[in-house]
Amino acid sequence: MARVLIAEDDRNALSGLVEILRQEGYDVVGVDSGPKALKLLEREKFDILLTDLRMPEMDGMELYERSQSIAPYMKTIVMTAYSSVKEAVEAMKRGVFEYLTKPIDLDDLFVHLQKAISEQNLQLENEELKSKLQVSYRFENIIGKSEPMQRVFRTIEKVAKSNATVLIRGESGTGKELVARAIHYNSPRAPKPMVEISCASFPETLLESELFGYEKGAFTGAASRKIGRFEMAQEGTIFLDEIGEISGNVQTKLLRVLQERIITRLGGTDALKVDVRLITATNRDLEIAITEGQFREDLYYRLNVIPITLPPLRDRKDDIPLLIDHFIRKYCDLNSRELMSLSEEALHMCMEYNWPGNVRELENAIENAIVLGEGDKILGEYLPISYKLSRMAAEKKESFMDAGETFKDKVEAAEKLVLEEAIRQCNGNKSEAAKILDISLRTMRYKISKYGL
Ligand SMILES: Nc1ncnc2c1ncn2[C@@H]1O[C@H](COP(=O)(O)OP(=O)(O)OP(=O)(O)O)[C@@H](O)[C@H]1O
Ligand SMILES: [Mg+2]
Repeated sequence: MARVLIAEDDRNALSGLVEILRQEGYDVVGVDSGPKALKLLEREKFDILLTDLRMPEMDGMELYERSQSIAPYMKTIVMTAYSSVKEAVEAMKRGVFEYLTKPIDLDDLFVHLQKAISEQNLQLENEELKSKLQVSYRFENIIGKSEPMQRVFRTIEKVAKSNATVLIRGESGTGKELVARAIHYNSPRAPKPMVEISCASFPETLLESELFGYEKGAFTGAASRKIGRFEMAQEGTIFLDEIGEISGNVQTKLLRVLQERIITRLGGTDALKVDVRLITATNRDLEIAITEGQFREDLYYRLNVIPITLPPLRDRKDDIPLLIDHFIRKYCDLNSRELMSLSEEALHMCMEYNWPGNVRELENAIENAIVLGEGDKILGEYLPISYKLSRMAAEKKESFMDAGETFKDKVEAAEKLVLEEAIRQCNGNKSEAAKILDISLRTMRYKISKYGL
């Protein structure tokens, strides 16, 4: 709820305005002089200052000027008699957001308030992004020396220069969001906003209004105009995360945006041109979603112009030591601890484990061990994966030690496990699996049919 401070020396006008804005759902405080307004501003935060221009003790311009050092993000709207429009125009040159002539037209007032709020939001978001940019979303923050990651880096570098639509795929925790940011912040659009939205966290109708915005009165409850994320991302980048989760209706609308590069706010008629770079991400298999009729094929082709696939961590284990090093530095720093290092045993565990939660799980494990650990060595027992590893080992051992009665039964059960593991490591490719086990393809085929693999 936006907070509005009204300064107006005419008591009747003041109470009228306070009442009306409260009914519109604003959180309003009214005062009858400039000094009172300043006092309040020093103690409380307001989004908008609505002030009369002519007031006896301190006029609206002086109030505006002095408020700027206290509340730099607050937007000011001045109200003035028709006879002093010139002053009002002057005020706008000095940075006042808007002026209204008396008697106040309420529709105008509401529109300007709404505009002021969206402008303020955009500004805040930009500031936040700028500071984020400085600390953590540079390209160098994506760690990886493995061949598949090097390939990803080369693609990011090339694609950042273009305007092409990018689809980032990969399991949960593989760094999709990180890559999306790297593309934006290495692109010519970097000074403009990057707007992110996770499609799965909104129900269908809400997602639509989040993306495209709406006009006042578009539906019951639409008390004022709302600017959508596409509009906020103007000249910048929009990142739609979990794109596989959007409904058919939103898919159709998105397709239209991509084809025509215009949007229409819900309940509106104006077609607004949008200049926005689109990046989407998903951990869902879109090809399957298409065959199941859950995702539009034509939209898929529009989104999948440049595909970037992030490999799961278990397929690039040579990145694990580097990532560990990176996260140790990060969390020792955050927790103001001397730099720690991983014990041999802990490193071995990290290399053994298959990391279903990928880099996110690794990051959490290291943070956990640093927070709980003591001294300068990170011991395996502090890694939350240790019990999972021992369970995995126990399950494997049990499964062949319990198999059958004879020595032969147990050896065969173990052999079956070895074959299964090799085939899994080769993503189901059985001739590859034969190669890494150094057995002939014939032997492999024989064992496959023997164990029903
Ligand atoms: N290559 C990497 N180098 C450094 N940190 C990484 C890397 N990949 C991922 N991370 C870190 O792992 C965490 C998860 O990454 P991110 O949120 O980008 O994953 P995601 O693929 O978007 O996951 P999800 O599908 O669950 O949303 C983040 O804290 C991120 O900083
Ligand atoms: Mg993500």
